[in-house]
Amino acid sequence: MKFFVDTAEVDAIAELNELGMVDGVTTNPSLIMKSGRDIKEVTKEICDLVDGPVSAETVALDAEGMIAEGRELAKIAENIAIKVPLTWAGLKACNVLTNEGRMVNVTLCFSANQALLAAKAGATFISPFIGRLDDLNLEGLDLIADIREIYDNYGFETNILAASIRSANHMSECAKIGADVATAPPGVIKKMADHVLTDKGLDAFMKDWASTGQTIL
Ligand code: G3P
Repeated sequence: MKFFVDTAEVDAIAELNELGMVDGVTTNPSLIMKSGRDIKEVTKEICDLVDGPVSAETVALDAEGMIAEGRELAKIAENIAIKVPLTWAGLKACNVLTNEGRMVNVTLCFSANQALLAAKAGATFISPFIGRLDDLNLEGLDLIADIREIYDNYGFETNILAASIRSANHMSECAKIGADVATAPPGVIKKMADHVLTDKGLDAFMKDWASTGQTIL
């Protein structure tokens, strides 16, 4: 499973990138707002840093507007994936931009039917939002499994990009289901390293080592 980082914070991306953990980046209007940066400037910095796809989201609500904004965002760098919402207008824009040879990420997906439409429209990525379904007491992970089954039934090449990931557990569950990509905030990716037994075991090793009086260097 590929790891994308869901943030527009360049320092946080750089830190994970140095460890080889970053296969791509996703941003959205809320993340740009949180960064306090200009969308084109910050997106360019991220694209220069990361080799994989960097999603930049359009904000127009009509297809023509999305297409124009998508073309403008695509000028930022070769690795831009244009993000459009899963509306009828977004599907139209997806189809046009895909036919121009651009990467398109269809976002705000909350149902298997929406994912099926995005695949038919030729999306490079479909972004089902797990956490926001969980917020409504629905099973976000079930949606990932349903989309996996449907795409595999027909050999759709659209990549399942699990989004709105809120916990380390979401990451391993997405990997078990077979999501192609999971995008998560940097804090969630770092949390994947945590285990109480690791901390406890390391503590015991350190105490025993100290009692030997030895050094390695
Ligand atoms: O990738 C989509 C993500 O940014 C949404 O996450 O936590 O706002 O639902 P969240």
